[in-house]
Amino acid sequence: MEKHTKEGLKGSWGRAELVEARTKRGSGTSAPVKEELEVYEEFFKTAIKNKRKTRTLVLGGTPELRDLALKYGSETIAVDISPKLLLSLTNIMEYKDSDNNKFMIGDWLEMDKFLPKNSFDVILGDASITNVPFEKWDQLFDILARLLKKKGYIITRQLTYNPSKKLKQYDEIIKDFNKGRNTIFGLVLEFGFYTKLGKKSYDKKKKIFSWKTIAEELNTIKNKLNKKSLADYENLIVHAKYHSSIISSEKEFYKKLRKYFYIRKKGVIKKLIYSHYVPIYLLKVRK
Ligand SMILES: C[S@@+](CC[C@H](N)C(=O)[O-])C[C@H]1O[C@@H](n2cnc3c(N)ncnc32)[C@H](O)[C@@H]1O
Repeated sequence: MEKHTKEGLKGSWGRAELVEARTKRGSGTSAPVKEELEVYEEFFKTAIKNKRKTRTLVLGGTPELRDLALKYGSETIAVDISPKLLLSLTNIMEYKDSDNNKFMIGDWLEMDKFLPKNSFDVILGDASITNVPFEKWDQLFDILARLLKKKGYIITRQLTYNPSKKLKQYDEIIKDFNKGRNTIFGLVLEFGFYTKLGKKSYDKKKKIFSWKTIAEELNTIKNKLNKKSLADYENLIVHAKYHSSIISSEKEFYKKLRKYFYIRKKGVIKKLIYSHYVPIYLLKVRK
């Protein structure tokens, strides 16, 4: 894994093959699906109420989230550490030419140095926090809370680990996927957390989820996926060589954020198995 340093992150996220794989979007990526975007939209409307002028900060280049805020006329600033990925994702946006579409290269852990405090109505993120080392979550939440206006909100999808979920057989996971009860992203998460592979791929203590371990093991069951799903899987797993995710239980996540935010709502797409432990949260700042 690349170290969580500014230079390390910029380099690993900016690799050409990774930029290409992430920019495809859709079913072969970890991008939010349609139903999840509907939850984001519902929460976004709650957050901006009927305010006419709003400002949104997006943690990363995620085009779907930036387009959502722009659709509601919000001045939208995306902050991402990788110039290449940010530009490539900006290029595929629906509202890329909007005057409200703004973006900056920077580290989320340094945003208090280049963005004004108390200036955002909403902060949007998609699995962004899982890119930050667990011991820095407190620092990140503190920065986010300071950037938000009074009564501001964070809306973010967060990967969590459910310690009481039963382990599954590989075939069971493939069967659920073929029945439409999971996405490729969800299928990989199921393997990595909730099969015998979990012992190797998820370090509960360090909270490190190793995509690389899963990718190596799944090579042996790839022939169970159809052609389209296999192509999606191959695209999703491109980043596995370079990144691990930092994933805690929901309880540990709540414990960290409680000091700075209230949990207002939690959105789950019931029919999708992974969504039950990768919900979208609506968090209101404590100010
Ligand atoms: C937001 S997350 C995942 C998003 C989502 N699943 C998707 O595909 O849109 C990934 C992004 O975060 C950026 N990133 C990771 N760590 C960062 C940090 N400390 N500061 C700023 N950007 C960071 C990466 O460059 C990458 O573009």
